[in-house]
Amino acid sequence: MAIEIIGTGRGIPPTRLTNDDLAMKLDTSDEWIRSHTGICARHIADEATACSDLALEAARQALAMVVQQEGGSGNEALVEAALSLDVIVLGTATPDYLGCPSTACVVQDKLGARNAAALDITAGCSGFIYGLEIAAGLLGIGSGRKRALVIGSDILSRFVDWTDRGMCILFGDGAGAAIVEKTENPSTGPGKRGLLRTILGADGSGTEHLIMRRGGSRNPYKTGELVDIPPHIEMNGQAVYNFAVKRVTETIEKLLSQEHITIDDVSRIVPHQANARIVQAAGKRLGIPEEKFFLNIQEYANTSAASIPIALDELNRTGSLHKGDLVMTIGFGGGLTYGGNLIIW
Ligand code: UT7
Repeated sequence: MAIEIIGTGRGIPPTRLTNDDLAMKLDTSDEWIRSHTGICARHIADEATACSDLALEAARQALAMVVQQEGGSGNEALVEAALSLDVIVLGTATPDYLGCPSTACVVQDKLGARNAAALDITAGCSGFIYGLEIAAGLLGIGSGRKRALVIGSDILSRFVDWTDRGMCILFGDGAGAAIVEKTENPSTGPGKRGLLRTILGADGSGTEHLIMRRGGSRNPYKTGELVDIPPHIEMNGQAVYNFAVKRVTETIEKLLSQEHITIDDVSRIVPHQANARIVQAAGKRLGIPEEKFFLNIQEYANTSAASIPIALDELNRTGSLHKGDLVMTIGFGGGLTYGGNLIIW
């Protein structure tokens, strides 16, 4: 039995904001942003768009890919494909609603996935990595479930302080999705396929380093309270940077050693797109050539839980992933969390 990704999709808002656009409103420059992060532009959701809307677009694209591969077409086939889903797992830090209902339930309804259980997971930018492993568990032997939809979707533009130049330049909005299926292929031995291994971790002592302080039960808004800025994420950039380089390096090493392989066996590393310098620093420590890492941060900036599935979809749709390729995902985020998956495509 293997847990395989059989379709991918993404939902990207059309409005594109370049570094130069930002430099017209803030004390920053294209040169600073590019040289410190690798970011050139980001996409921003309009006011009417919520997390579930981007997630829905990504999910529909992923389902359409599966339908096409199965030789189907048309709306009826899409409806059937949605009904074939047994579970929806959605990673986000910016849900449609605070706590209840889950954004996964909103997507389940809009998609018409009436047979699917649905849940959100809060693992920050590691949401998709966690989500794949959670989906694999939910599809496990004896579960009676066969197909899962795993989504990472975030609208961080709505939760940053747009006057804070150290923060607002980093993020963009988007969603990415993967359809994951339990197949008859082997997951070990010759001809093995799918999700091989996942490492998940957390260091809760770093909660303060990436935090949205207001609005939850610790610090609720009070009746009549006047606020200067809407709820927004605060970050200790240097602490997150150091955590990220350390954990990304360690996780790559662990995935390789636990699977008894070398980096040469890996076709592509798909890292969380937070800062190109983090990826370069980890690559340098491990002697991994830069070309092994796929980066599209220049176009989308940091889309949080969406960044890895967006990147996977881009690679998939440009024909850059071939059956049998070994793909590694690596990520980190609020919590602080981290992790990585090894997948035979
Ligand atoms: O998904 C996980 C989320 N977060 C991350 O992955 C973030 C991890 N951290 C980082 O990527 C980096 O720490 C940042 C990109 C956030 C910051 O880069 P840095 O090289 O650590 O810059 P810094 O904060 O040390 O700031 C250096 C200088 C400061 O000026 P002074 O004090 O040296 O005069 C800042 O005020 O750069 C200034 N600065 C800017 N200048 C122009 C900070 N932001 C900007 C800006 N434009 N946007």
